[in-house]
Amino acid sequence: MVGFWGKQQYCFLVLASFFVISFLGSQQARAFDDLRGFIDFLDQKGELVTVEKAVSSKHEAATVQMKILKEMDKAVLFTDVDGQGRKMLGNIYISRKMIAYMFDVKPQELVKKVTSFKNAQRLPVKAVDAAPCQEVVHEKLSDLREIMSIPWNYEKDANYYITAGIVVTKDPDTGKVNSSICRMMYREGRHLNIFFAPMQHNWMIFNKYKVLKQDMPVAIIIGADPYMMFASESGIPYEENEFEYAGTMKGEPIEVVHCKTVDHYVPANAEFILEGAVSWQETGLEGPMGENQRIYGPQGELPVITISCVTHRKDPIYQNILPGTVEEQSLLAVPMEARVLQMLRNVSSRVVNINLLPNFMNCVIQVDDYPPVQRGLGKNLLLSALSEPWIKYAVVVNKDVDIDDPNEVNWAISTRADLAEDLLVVERIWGFVMDPSRKSKEDPVTKMGIDATVDPYERERCLKTDVCNYGTCDLMKYVR
Ligand SMILES: Cc1cc2nc3c(=O)[nH]c(=O)nc-3n(C[C@H](O)[C@H](O)[C@H](O)COP(=O)(O)O)c2cc1C
Repeated sequence: MVGFWGKQQYCFLVLASFFVISFLGSQQARAFDDLRGFIDFLDQKGELVTVEKAVSSKHEAATVQMKILKEMDKAVLFTDVDGQGRKMLGNIYISRKMIAYMFDVKPQELVKKVTSFKNAQRLPVKAVDAAPCQEVVHEKLSDLREIMSIPWNYEKDANYYITAGIVVTKDPDTGKVNSSICRMMYREGRHLNIFFAPMQHNWMIFNKYKVLKQDMPVAIIIGADPYMMFASESGIPYEENEFEYAGTMKGEPIEVVHCKTVDHYVPANAEFILEGAVSWQETGLEGPMGENQRIYGPQGELPVITISCVTHRKDPIYQNILPGTVEEQSLLAVPMEARVLQMLRNVSSRVVNINLLPNFMNCVIQVDDYPPVQRGLGKNLLLSALSEPWIKYAVVVNKDVDIDDPNEVNWAISTRADLAEDLLVVERIWGFVMDPSRKSKEDPVTKMGIDATVDPYERERCLKTDVCNYGTCDLMKYVR
């Protein structure tokens, strides 16, 4: 008898552990080792188009990339750029959905997931001696474009542009490492121009080198794994390190290797690494360039980088982001949503959700009903959202408005906002440094907020129309 029960208990235990292990397995976040792993995944999901026909890096690749984005809403992998069998990737972060794949969550759970990393333990990098990103080394290079097909994207761009390069720098005082995307224009030979937007961390670090009258060593990562890419655009505090933050998001340390000619570590599994130095004094004419506001930024003098070495994987994949498209906006908006949502929830727990897409400069805030003693809360939320420099206008709506649908938001503004009292104009405060509406680079920005909510006791006045049982109605029963 005892033996019989013992066997049953044993079987039960084995089965139970099997289910627990499978359950835990399914709970574990999916982690991609490198960009190639992410590309394979997107391909299997049907999110990627492969273009085998040869395309020119001058205009043609960008035109095809834009068409695939606008008409197919997909990522693209070119396998023959410039007739040299070079690979180029585009459009892989074009939506909340694409970024959500990285974390194995649904798009609507993404902001919560990103918020969960804020206080999670950071994972120090793991240094390795040999790395895929150094499989091929070019120390004696004469022209960058002989090695890689940097594309010429927009018609009136001044030249070929690197738009998805993560620039790694080091604070000369503290040794703190910073990494974020900066655009770089190909000049000729081994030379690029670089744009450091004012107040960004790389700009702050470069200014320290200028004071010291020293060139700034840099490493440029092209084709980083998705966690490193997302970390570089996360706007984490200066004291933090994007490599360690990427490790936290990935769930394991980022493997790094030391560069060949500069004192920097770079992700071992990246596709390309460009090593070099930004001159503290030499500048060159850059631009115009199609920027993130979908206008051509003007010409100006920008610092010059001299590349000392290029390393890459075998059969490397170059990555191109078309500036001003939803790919750039998504990379900037998603981490910003997590930051702004937290800021708004500090003002009121009634905030349900926010949406900064498709343009990260406009913010829609969804708020639950609040008691009469909090009347005016909509404006507090607007002021808080507008204090984020990049946000130019914000709208607050009730919970019955779908904040992912611009038509719904417009409907709320048209029907619920009494603009004589619900419109807030905040004149001339610190705004987005690249806002093209400013007359000069130093000008502050005027911002706008609209409270398009209606108090619960007034809701009858502007109740949204709806048919009965729309959600449960099965059309297949009615149409063939
Ligand atoms: C496609 C793309 C291009 C960008 N180009 C630039 C640029 O040229 N210069 C710049 O300073 N920031 C640029 N940014 C924004 C920064 O990378 C981003 O704000 C980053 O979070 C800054 O981080 P940091 O302040 O820690 O360096 C770009 C972002 C994206 C997604």
